[in-house]
Order: sequence, then C-alpha cells, then structure tokens
Amino acid sequence: MRMLRRRRVTVVVALSALAALALGIVWSVVSNSRAGDQANEPQPSQTPHTEPGLATEPDAAAERSPAFDVDSPDSITVVVNKQRPISPNDWVPNDLVLPEGIANNWGDELRAPAAAALQEMYASAAADGLPFIITSGFRDYDRQAALFDGYAESDGVDAAETYSARPGHSEHQTGLAVDLTDGGECSLEECFGDTQTGQWLREHAWQFGFILRYDQGEEAVVGYSYEPWHFRYVGTDVSTAMHEHGVTNLEDYLGLPAAPGY
Ligand code: DAL
Ligand code: ZN
Repeated sequence: MRMLRRRRVTVVVALSALAALALGIVWSVVSNSRAGDQANEPQPSQTPHTEPGLATEPDAAAERSPAFDVDSPDSITVVVNKQRPISPNDWVPNDLVLPEGIANNWGDELRAPAAAALQEMYASAAADGLPFIITSGFRDYDRQAALFDGYAESDGVDAAETYSARPGHSEHQTGLAVDLTDGGECSLEECFGDTQTGQWLREHAWQFGFILRYDQGEEAVVGYSYEPWHFRYVGTDVSTAMHEHGVTNLEDYLGLPAAPGY
C-alpha cells in the first residue's frame, strides 16, 4: 500500500517536472520570438520616404503630431501650404526683428527666434568660409500678392504656382522662412543646391533648427518645385528628429496630408 502510494507520488512528481519543463520551453520560444519581432521592427531611419504623399512611418507620425501646434500662426511648428492658409490671412507676427550682422538684400525681418538661430548659423557658415546673404525673409500678405501677380503675369498662373505661393499661403508670412544665397549666379536658381554654400546649408541647417523646406522630388507633397535656397525655422527638436529619421518634408513628419495643389 505504502509502496503503491510512493509510486503514485513519484509519478505525480515526474509528471509535474515534465509539465514544468514543457512550460519552460514554450515560454522560452514565445519570449525569443517576441524579442526577434522587436529586433526586426523597421526603425525610422531604415525606411526612408520613397513615395510622395506616403508618410515614412504613419504610426510614429500619428503619435508625434498632437505634440505640435501646426495651426496657430505664431507657433514655431505652424504648417502653411496650399491646403493650409495662414489664419488670419492678414497675420503679421509681433516679434519681427532684423537679423544682425548678415547681408540682407531688402532689409527683411524675421521672427526673433528664427533671426537668433540664423545668426548662429551664419557665424558657423562664415567660420567655414561660406558667409551667406538673405534675399527674402518676412513678407506680408500684400507683398506676397504683388510678387505672385508679377510672376503670374510674366509666366502665366500655372507656372507661377509651381514656385510662388498665393497670398495668404506663403511660409514667408509666418516670419519663419528665409531665402539664402551666396550672391553668385545661382541665386534663387536650382543650381544653388550644387554650390558650396548650398551644400553646406543642406548639411548643417538642421543643427540650427532650420529645414530645407522644398527639397528635390517633394512637389507632390509640399506643392512647390525644388527650392534649395528656402529654409524654414522649426526649432531644433523638429529639425533634429527629421534629420535623424531621414524625413524630408514637414507634412510627412507631422502626419499632415500632402498639399500638391489648392
Ligand atoms: N516660393 C515660396 C513657395 C513662396 O512663395 O512662399
Ligand atoms: Zn522662400
């Protein structure tokens, strides 16, 4: 009787050990497979933007966008494009200043944080032997209207709309956009992107909170052809994140719709 009970106990202990072993194996397989999934998850920088209008990482963009104010005209991260007019349309920032120590063709102002960042960028570029010149900064509604009308008259409306914003739709009205040149023959031309200054700006602007806003091949998202001279101040949080994740336009980064037209 006692023998029988001992055998039963032995069988129960053996069965429990087997069950524990089986559970252990199953758990190890499950957790290894989870770790493998994480390791194989695409990282932002491994999935560069390839198709216009398609966010590089939609989930991450959706998580990021609520953190940024893309609507208020005085927000550093306001997004103005063909689908998003500045509001109100006669908006004028209240902190416009003249960037100090930088040649400035028309004496254009910028919002104070953008001007301060531009001064730092200028000091760095000049130290590398590549001082730049401001060709355009803040433009109010009426000035943008006059510019757009002039281009429309000389090139036709359709052509003008590929490179000039309708009044009320220009980033220049935010006081956060600046056009830069080296004073050479590529001023406000695509070849500026191939100049030493253009290359320096492309490489370093993010370190000062600026992004190249209308990069090559981004027309279907940003609405304009390549403008290697147009830089937009967004602050270093956004410019650094975009640089690190390889995101080449603001719409994708902030999870906003593409704006190819009005
Ligand atoms: N050239 C840019 C798109 C503007 O007019 O604001
Ligand atoms: Zn511009």
